[in-house]
Amino acid sequence: MDVYPQVQRGILQTITIITTDIAIEQCYTYITMTNVIGDIPLERWRMILMSIEPNRSSYPCFINADSGAEVARQMEQHMLLTTVMGGILAEHPDLSQVRRILDVCCGPGSWVLETAFTYPEIEVIGIDGNQNMINYARAQAHVQGLHNAHFFVMDIREPLDFPVATFDIVNARFIHFFISKYEWPYIIKELARMTTRDGIIRLTDFDELGVSNSPAHEKMKYLYAQACMRNRQSFHQFYGRSHNGLTPLLARFLRDVGCENIQEQAYILNYSTGHSLAVKNYHNFKMLYKLGQPFLLAMGVATQEEIDEVYDQMLLEMQTEGFCAHWYFLSAWGNKPGQ
Ligand SMILES: C[S@@+](CC[C@H](N)C(=O)[O-])C[C@H]1O[C@@H](n2cnc3c(N)ncnc32)[C@H](O)[C@@H]1O
Repeated sequence: MDVYPQVQRGILQTITIITTDIAIEQCYTYITMTNVIGDIPLERWRMILMSIEPNRSSYPCFINADSGAEVARQMEQHMLLTTVMGGILAEHPDLSQVRRILDVCCGPGSWVLETAFTYPEIEVIGIDGNQNMINYARAQAHVQGLHNAHFFVMDIREPLDFPVATFDIVNARFIHFFISKYEWPYIIKELARMTTRDGIIRLTDFDELGVSNSPAHEKMKYLYAQACMRNRQSFHQFYGRSHNGLTPLLARFLRDVGCENIQEQAYILNYSTGHSLAVKNYHNFKMLYKLGQPFLLAMGVATQEEIDEVYDQMLLEMQTEGFCAHWYFLSAWGNKPGQ
């Protein structure tokens, strides 16, 4: 069934009567290849999402946020990312006009805590869907005496409990792990709703978990990419690719909600043997791929025996003298239009 001609302005009526995966895919491709995203109100997006994914509350995820090991991993990863990115908000050195910042999916709150410490006059708020993460972040804020850091449990896939135009900066880093490709436009619209006029929305994410000369590392990454494809997280149109096609779309998402002055900055985390960040990222990926194995199994991309074999081999190859690898990620940011 070719649904393209039916979509046009009557998009909601069309989508609600669509039942097959192929038709949904065609509809979504049409939406993202045209400019209708900005025209669809938030409530309508929600209804579209409910019709596509009725069981969204149990969405499978590579990250196990209930695990204490994941708390520690995210804290370590924050240090790696901040080193590579040159700081918490390196591209925005002048925050003198900023009063409130929001970090969505903040995990154990490392980015929020560091921002609140650096800018004591700014209120910095972190939200995460996991109570365990928020408890940890609040305890850290308390211990560090950061009275300008606040944390709340909120689900990014639901309307967020903040008024319109609350934040001067909204930051979202590495959120692709747990949202389907259909949800991105809705989520960016919600971020834009909470951003002040002239305020900044900043998205940072990646396409693949590194690029290396290690066969087992590449195989492991491929399993992850296939799992994302099956979980409708990948923007790639074809099976068999090891990247999810997300970073080229970040600027587009911003443009679709009316952002101006959109800019992009790419980063490289070099974790080749002998590089200063190699050991830290070895431990990061070691943990990430260990904790993510139930997701790979649930998505049916390999058996536990196959995963164990690739995982063990990956760890061996990552420690060899000749191992070379880069992890690329991208920030895109833009201003919400002023008056
Ligand atoms: C990869 S981590 C984000 C790391 C953090 N933003 C950073 O850059 O260091 C993903 C986080 O998203 C949270 N999360 C997962 N599903 C969520 C949802 N529906 N709403 C809000 N947060 C969610 C998880 O609890 C986890 O802490």
